Amino acid sequence: MFKKIKLSDNLPKHIGIIMDGNGRWATKRGLPRNLGHKEGVNAVDRTIDALIKFNIKVVTFFAFSTENWKRSKQEIDGIFDLLRNYFINQKEEFLLKGVKLMSIGDVDKFPKDLVDELRNLQEKTKNNDKLIVNLAINYGGKDDIVRAVNNLIAEGKTEITKEDISSHLYTADLPDPDFVIRTSGEERISNFMIYQMAYSELYFPKVLWPDFGEKDLLKALEIYSKRERRYGGIK
Ligand code: IPE
Ligand code: IPE
Ligand code: MG
Repeated sequence: MFKKIKLSDNLPKHIGIIMDGNGRWATKRGLPRNLGHKEGVNAVDRTIDALIKFNIKVVTFFAFSTENWKRSKQEIDGIFDLLRNYFINQKEEFLLKGVKLMSIGDVDKFPKDLVDELRNLQEKTKNNDKLIVNLAINYGGKDDIVRAVNNLIAEGKTEITKEDISSHLYTADLPDPDFVIRTSGEERISNFMIYQMAYSELYFPKVLWPDFGEKDLLKALEIYSKRERRYGGIK
């Protein structure tokens, strides 16, 4: 199965993943929504292993949007617990796998102990270079642009270029995503990296995020590898 795509050919450098469908996965089984999020963490682990296997260099997982505050306190606290435990438990794993953790979004709104664990893991993994795992938490594409522009104003800029904006987004140090996958069949962007996605290839598989694994990633990469990116030009 793995041999079908030539790995050097036409693979995305940066993949964005909108991990959707955790709630439906749980509800279908008569379970509380947070068990869907819990199972979603296992899918993240599987996906990280598969990304490393396929030699992808950067992944951004959309884990909590600026709109997700609309959910119940119970669900939000459950997501915070999962994130906190993830940061605590992944230390050895990330070092072994060569994963460098990054994050985008306004984490100041998150519990301080969670942010401390995040910063701690970022510091511990900062020299790893096998795979960058970028977590979008309390992230919104519109917020990202507004924040960039406000920072440019604060720097005294009166006229700004596209490059100025790119270099002031949370993703300043990352390439734009070549490929964005949203699971669960919903076909929308939901305020993900809207500026950075201007020319991303999009893919909306039906699979619910907790069921996502290596074979789903491989299928996605096969689809991407056949896409022709024209950027407004002609082949
Ligand atoms: C995505 O799954 C995870 C987050 C938004 C945190 P959902 O929780 O949105 O799952 P559905 O869409 O309700 O199935
Ligand atoms: C998008 O999923 C956000 C994340 C995956 C973190 P949502 O489930 O929040 O998006 P909508 O509300 O269906 O657009
Ligand atoms: Mg959803």
